[in-house]
Amino acid sequence: MIDLGQSKDFLSSLSQVSHLHFQIWDADEGLVFSSGPDEPAEPALEELQDFSLQIMNSAAFQHIPLESGEGLFGVPLRNGQAVAGSLIVFGSNSLQKPLPETSPAPQPGRAEEMERFLNQVALQVQDRLTYKKEMEEMAVELTDNFEQLSFYAKIAGRVKSITFAGNMLQELVEELLDTMRTDMAFARLPERPEYNALVCTQKIPENISDYDDFIDVLIDSIPLNSPALEEDYFIVNDSSTTPGFSDLAPDPYRFLAVKMQHNGNFYGWMGLVSFNLGENFRRSELRLLDSMAEQIAVVITNSDLYRDLERFVINMVKSLVFAIEAKDDYTRGHSERVCQYSLLMAERLGLDEERKKILQWSSILHDSGKIGIPESILNKPWRLKDEEYQIIKDHPMKGHTILEPLEQLASSLPGMLHHHERYDGGGYPQGLKGKEIPLDARIIAVADTFDAITSNRAYRPAKTPEEALEEIEKVAGTQLDPDLVNVFKEVFIRDLAPEQECSLEEQS
Ligand SMILES: [Fe+2]
Repeated sequence: MIDLGQSKDFLSSLSQVSHLHFQIWDADEGLVFSSGPDEPAEPALEELQDFSLQIMNSAAFQHIPLESGEGLFGVPLRNGQAVAGSLIVFGSNSLQKPLPETSPAPQPGRAEEMERFLNQVALQVQDRLTYKKEMEEMAVELTDNFEQLSFYAKIAGRVKSITFAGNMLQELVEELLDTMRTDMAFARLPERPEYNALVCTQKIPENISDYDDFIDVLIDSIPLNSPALEEDYFIVNDSSTTPGFSDLAPDPYRFLAVKMQHNGNFYGWMGLVSFNLGENFRRSELRLLDSMAEQIAVVITNSDLYRDLERFVINMVKSLVFAIEAKDDYTRGHSERVCQYSLLMAERLGLDEERKKILQWSSILHDSGKIGIPESILNKPWRLKDEEYQIIKDHPMKGHTILEPLEQLASSLPGMLHHHERYDGGGYPQGLKGKEIPLDARIIAVADTFDAITSNRAYRPAKTPEEALEEIEKVAGTQLDPDLVNVFKEVFIRDLAPEQECSLEEQS
């Protein structure tokens, strides 16, 4: 459809100056502009309509003589490549107006001159059409850019995290579906299926029942020799005309997928599926998806590096703790036994796997702060001086300082930091009291005390487990949580006879 806009004023002015009569015929709507009366005496409207069709069909300049001796001239009007209508001109004599001798316009009858003139006028009209079209496109592009910017702002908060949270991709894919003109948005990571994400609108045809399966089939069907893959994307704008994709769903669809990769590491695909074939995927959508996939790949790469680093540091700290224990006959295996007793109590308390994992690490590393204490103080066989005792008392805080930067161990820190707090509030480092003391720390305190009593120490021999149990019962309510001492008693009676291994596998 031709949108005339300012062209009407332009043609009316031109008509007044030239004393020619202009008409614009739209291919769909018929006569849309006439610089004089809509139905001139000559030529008749039907004749003008036929002439317009003749111009549009031929897509070229046309000229027919009129009975009055004047001519009827016309050129096609184009909107882009397509013929959208016609521009017709005839002499104003047919409107019973005299033609002035000084008319700047070419005289009717001179066909070649008229063709050049009309083509110039048509160009002016078309320029205005193109300008309008460009403005519309620019408006769409600006809207897209705004959506992209606000989308970036939304995802920026999520991807700034150095590690990859499990639901991050799901949330990003949901944003993607909200922002793009699409029916499905997905992320597929073959090596990390736990990160896979898929969201859909209500417009998915009923005959597609398993969405995940549909996406997997689409990805598997991407031809490895597609030239677009060199730019790390793949587009199907109409599945019904794309070999290999036409029979994957009964209804035609559009499909866009980009690779999630960084530094040569390929993690998977991110993409869109739409069942609206009215529009193709835009370049801006490809750009947005591509940069988002790249950012996600960067986060995954960083996350992997960070986890490797964390594992390295944890193993290093663990090795140091064991090395310290190994040098001292009295404490060898202490951390592992405290871990073993703590987990048996956790089992008895019905703690879930996540909580047990946290407790496992806080109990294994509970004395890691002793790394910084001189061996001469740690292994002193007689009573410590006040300042030496003060150094010993610093070990929970030192351990906390060493392990604090490790994000993965964050939940295990309170159990470690407070394992020397007393139930009556007389412990260290903070003098917490009763249930203020984190549960993990109260559990470790019971296990730690029991193992200390049953181990040889430089200043006294080991006691039997039964004697140790009696001793910890004596300090229930003062040094230790009485409820947990009871739990330990149950564990002692039921579970401690058959030795249980305390796994030291890395935290996953
Ligand atoms: Fe300790």
